Amino acid sequence: MDINILNTKNSVLNNYLAEIRNKQIQTDPLRFRRNIERIGEMMAYEVSKTLHYAPCNVETPLATATVQLPTDKLVVGTILRAGLPMHNGLLSVFDRAESCFISAFRKYTSNDEFEIALQYVATPSLEGKVLMLCDPMLATGMSLGKTYEALKKFGVPKHTHILSVIGSENGVAYLNDMLKDEPVSLWVAAVDKELNSHKYIVPGLGDAGDLAFGEKL
Ligand code: URA
Repeated sequence: MDINILNTKNSVLNNYLAEIRNKQIQTDPLRFRRNIERIGEMMAYEVSKTLHYAPCNVETPLATATVQLPTDKLVVGTILRAGLPMHNGLLSVFDRAESCFISAFRKYTSNDEFEIALQYVATPSLEGKVLMLCDPMLATGMSLGKTYEALKKFGVPKHTHILSVIGSENGVAYLNDMLKDEPVSLWVAAVDKELNSHKYIVPGLGDAGDLAFGEKL
């Protein structure tokens, strides 16, 4: 697995990161969702540099132009529900990509203990395709790890890109250990040091799903 941490190089992405973390700006859910979408768009652009391309001729009004176009078959996969704004961002860059949706959630067995429950998968075949799997918060890495394994029965992707907005050092290490020999790239906008006792990322931003879509029961 290779690891790409986007804020190790300063860019405009830092503005969006600052806004999604800012508890005053977080009161505007439209802005929160749109900033996550924008980070998804930027990650899509970075991922696009790793795809395979072949020349294609395009007729302009004046002559023929040869353009290199991506040839990989793409699937954007999203862990519901927090991943949906990233999903939109990726689809607005890769407009012909197929979509895969997975429900994975923390099923608490005590106050601080939980297991990941995976209940619903709607996906096209993944065989030989490039899968971009998004979950904005890579806290423990357990949801993404379990989802990666569960999706194998729908076909083996040629390559999987795991995309998160904020990762924890623990979560990145967990996935790196689990997926060290797999054809996987991890993309995160930033990596934070800590997880609290509820396994939330600190400083992080709070609950990405609630901030995007409101609190749930
Ligand atoms: N999910 C979130 O939304 N935030 C965290 O910090 C961890 C998991």
